[in-house]
Amino acid sequence: MPRQVSKALIPAAGRGTRFLPFTKAVPKELAPIVTTPALEFVVAEAADNGVTDVLLVLGPDKESIADYFSRNEDLEAALSAKGDEEALASIRRAEQLAAIHQTVQKEPRGLGDAVAHGEEFAAGEAIAVLLPDDLIDDRDSLLGAMIDVHAEHGGVVLGLLDVPREDIRRYGCVVPAAGSDPSASVVAISDLVEKPDPDEAPSTLAIIGRYVLPPEIFDALRETTPGSGAEIQVTDAINRLAHDGVPVHGVVFAGRRYDTGARLDYVKAVVQLAGRHPEIGSEFTSWLRDYVTTTP
Ligand code: G1P
Repeated sequence: MPRQVSKALIPAAGRGTRFLPFTKAVPKELAPIVTTPALEFVVAEAADNGVTDVLLVLGPDKESIADYFSRNEDLEAALSAKGDEEALASIRRAEQLAAIHQTVQKEPRGLGDAVAHGEEFAAGEAIAVLLPDDLIDDRDSLLGAMIDVHAEHGGVVLGLLDVPREDIRRYGCVVPAAGSDPSASVVAISDLVEKPDPDEAPSTLAIIGRYVLPPEIFDALRETTPGSGAEIQVTDAINRLAHDGVPVHGVVFAGRRYDTGARLDYVKAVVQLAGRHPEIGSEFTSWLRDYVTTTP
């Protein structure tokens, strides 16, 4: 099936308050997983799935992200002079993954507002949206499956995860359409609700940070008033599209996902990914086993 989505938008404009004090000076999206920023993994995931152009929606103080995705000619010259080809390749990788575009979201007014910044970039095409707090293991596929579902049905496609009921309050939650099998790997969706109370949540299917959005999303966002957290929610705009008859499907992910959005989850993600790092992975894993078994 042909891949139809060549553009992706990645919001990177949050204040990173859960990670203060380091986010006072360094954007959360550059927090390293061993040596590579979480954001680079997400751009690589988009590129691996056929995306050629990425729009980063940045906050006003995030020049360092723009720098990270630009060439650093002084450093390249210094590494070249030393003959350090490995380091040279590592610093060039980020800007070679895709054509990187940037725009600034002046105030953090919500994910929906960040996505609205992509209208000109989308230029009438469907776009992928990837939230950099969510990392998908590169041995598993989610975005590729979502792009295939989009090619078949059009409309909106969401990455979903079945979460424990008490966790649904942290996510957008979807309602499988009447007659659709909620345990299937691709579900049709009739309604969405942002961060419901677990007692009232209509399902335990959570939106994880992957979306394929059709161009109609921009009109829907314009008509969306601030919702949960007084922010413009992309979930509310997608709900509006669903009610207007635009097909909305979800791909239920069964693979490995790392959440870097909260402190404990971030540390877990670093440990998991350090364990499979090509250089330090096996030494780290055997140290960790030893540490866990010998530390009271
Ligand atoms: C955002 C979305 C939410 C989604 C979540 C995935 O929430 O609003 O619908 O489930 O990302 O990570 P945030 O985590 O920005 O509060």
